[in-house]
This record gives sequence, C-alpha cells and structure tokens, in this order.
Amino acid sequence: MITAKIAAYTLPVLPYPADALEPVISEETLTNHHGKHFAAYVNNLNKLIPGSEYEGLLVEEIVQQAADGPIYNNAGQVMNHRLYFEQFVPVSQYKAPGRRLLNAINYTFGSMEIFKKQMVDAAMNVFGSGWVWLAVDTEGRMQIVKEAGGGNPWRRGLTPLLGIDCWEHSWYLDYAFDKAAHYNGLWEVMNWEVVENRLPL
Ligand SMILES: [Fe+2]
Repeated sequence: MITAKIAAYTLPVLPYPADALEPVISEETLTNHHGKHFAAYVNNLNKLIPGSEYEGLLVEEIVQQAADGPIYNNAGQVMNHRLYFEQFVPVSQYKAPGRRLLNAINYTFGSMEIFKKQMVDAAMNVFGSGWVWLAVDTEGRMQIVKEAGGGNPWRRGLTPLLGIDCWEHSWYLDYAFDKAAHYNGLWEVMNWEVVENRLPL
C-alpha cells in the first residue's frame, strides 16, 4: 500500500561534516560523491518520474517495481546512496557493534573479522561499477550480495543492512590503484548502530 505521495525526491543532508570521515574518505571525495554524483541521481529521477507510471511512489517502491532502464538505475542509486552516506560516523565517534548485530554476524560468518574480509573480497571482485551488500532475508538469514550498476538486493525481497559502493567515484581520487585500502578503511568509520537498526525486528 502506498502511504506517501512523493512530489519530488530530495538530496538528504549529510549526517556529519564533509571532512568528518578523513582520512578514510577525504573531504573532496565526500563533497563530490554526495554533492555531485548522488545529487545527479536525485536530479535525474526528478526529471524521469513526472508523467511516468511511477509518479508518486517512494524510491523503495520504484526499485521494486521499475523495469530495467534509466528510472530503475537512478532510483537504485538514490536508494543506495541514502543507505551509504547514512551508515558512516566520524572516527572520533566510532563505537563497536552492538550485541544483536554482532551475534547475527558471528552466527552467519563465524566472526566479525571473517565477515569484514568476505565483504572486502566481494568488493574487490566486483567487475566494473557495482555494490556489495550485507543483506538479510525474511527468515533473518544474512548474506553478502554483489550487485552490478545501481543494484540493490531490496529488488529481490532482501533487506540491505550495509553497502559498499564499488564505483570508482567512491575511492579513486583518494586511493588511485589501491582500492583495497579504501574498502578496509571503511570499517573505521562504520556506524554499526545505524546498521543494526536496519535489522528487521
Ligand atoms: Fe557512489
């Protein structure tokens, strides 16, 4: 059931200053990624949706319903980048994962370290532009999912918990040919409370 009619899609304000994730993500990369790339996906969606059969739908509904193509691609990237930028915290405010999330990760992967390694390995194996997600199914089972382009496992009924953006715009400026350093660094700015709150009850 549609509970909200969307007149226009908006760029969320970052929940931290643009330099807050340094040195893992530089202010320049964050400013470009949020203010240019993410903003472009929002603007594209606002141009594509009026007059289409998806008018008034939430981004999450468009990701579920749209056929492959520009509307799906841009809605996917709006959903992905909302989740992405929301899930970080300045290094100085980092807190360890909570018990509920930690238990679920340990149960599925064996340990937090194994989980982190599997996520980074998956990210390193994304060919071209894409994403890696920690997702959970309706039975509460966690899995690591690789997606091409602007894909999100939400389209297939999974709930995304944590996303790694594997597009070059997320890391190339800071890390050039060492994208593994970027992926491994993300753990230092991960807001595990946000990730845990995405777990279905
Ligand atoms: Fe991105």
